[in-house]
Amino acid sequence: MLLEDRSREYVEARVRAGVMEQDVADLLVETGAGERVVREGLVHHGIELQFASERHRIPLSELAGGRAIVIYGQTELVKDLIRLRLDGDRPLHFDVEEVSVHDLESDGPLVRYRHEGLGAELRCDVIAGCDGFHGVCRPSVPHGVLSEFSREYAFGWLGILAAVAPSNGELVYAHHERGFALLSLRSPDLSRLYIQCRPDEDLAEWPDDRIWEELQTRLSLEGWTLAEGPVLEKGVTGMRSYVCEPMRHGRLFLAGDAAHIVPPTGAKGLNLALRDVRVLADAIVDWYRSGSTTGLDAYSDTCLRRIWRAEHFSWWMTHMLHRPDGSDAFDLKLQLSELAYITRSEAAATSLAENYVGLELV
Ligand code: PHB
Repeated sequence: MLLEDRSREYVEARVRAGVMEQDVADLLVETGAGERVVREGLVHHGIELQFASERHRIPLSELAGGRAIVIYGQTELVKDLIRLRLDGDRPLHFDVEEVSVHDLESDGPLVRYRHEGLGAELRCDVIAGCDGFHGVCRPSVPHGVLSEFSREYAFGWLGILAAVAPSNGELVYAHHERGFALLSLRSPDLSRLYIQCRPDEDLAEWPDDRIWEELQTRLSLEGWTLAEGPVLEKGVTGMRSYVCEPMRHGRLFLAGDAAHIVPPTGAKGLNLALRDVRVLADAIVDWYRSGSTTGLDAYSDTCLRRIWRAEHFSWWMTHMLHRPDGSDAFDLKLQLSELAYITRSEAAATSLAENYVGLELV
């Protein structure tokens, strides 16, 4: 049974990031969910870093053993997964209310919820808490069981989706004195662009003209122009790093944003979530088949190794590329030195590349 407290329309319209590690795209194919990813996903073999008015390509695939990334909107993946589930014979309820989880330490944890006006109870073998950072599962773990580690950032991202062909073949991560900017894409005729802003930025102060002007400034490069087009969607995302340990209490297993958050700079959120679910699904199958709980018992440690690597990578990318209020000339010089090092040293570029395409730390 799969429960979702939002409506199908809401989750299918919510715009999220769009970079998939190759292993994650492969995982979707392997599990029968990758048909459209293969057809419509755009395989990229590099990204570009822009700083000090120059752009430098990081050849990801060359540096990371041939692996690539696939550009495919998380929103599209959500639609694919919903369709697959509804085409099968297993239930998925949208718009459920008053969800709560109980008896987590017993052999039969319980989910209570309301659906279409009726109260329901579901006795389970295990509960997978995939209900996001603000979900009910993590707060249902008794006080004192989980250790939490977090960092807030003094900035956010203002993102737009625009009906215009991407002005560059690959993603551009731009360091600029006025703040970070990112040029990304969703398809050959849809651009996705971001600028660093305040975490509580008021969108009303950002008419489309002002956003484009800021993007033009931060992404500007001699001999290159950023094409503008109608803005289809805009929003502000806060940035935070967060991990709770362990990712399990009794028969409740936390996965994805319910257990960890990364700032979007390393494009890791979706990838971490899908990899958690993979480890958990394998462990559950193994338990049903063999009766062994080895996989379930190792779930949290297995995932946390990868998660902490991605936490560090995302935090590092974030610090290297953003200009916090009040940062001084010393900070700026350090950032520029680090960016120059990455573009001049193959060892440094390889470190970025292998993290960006995804490290499996077994
Ligand atoms: C996106 O396309 O939405 C995107 C790309 C790269 C990031 C974050 C978001 O690091």
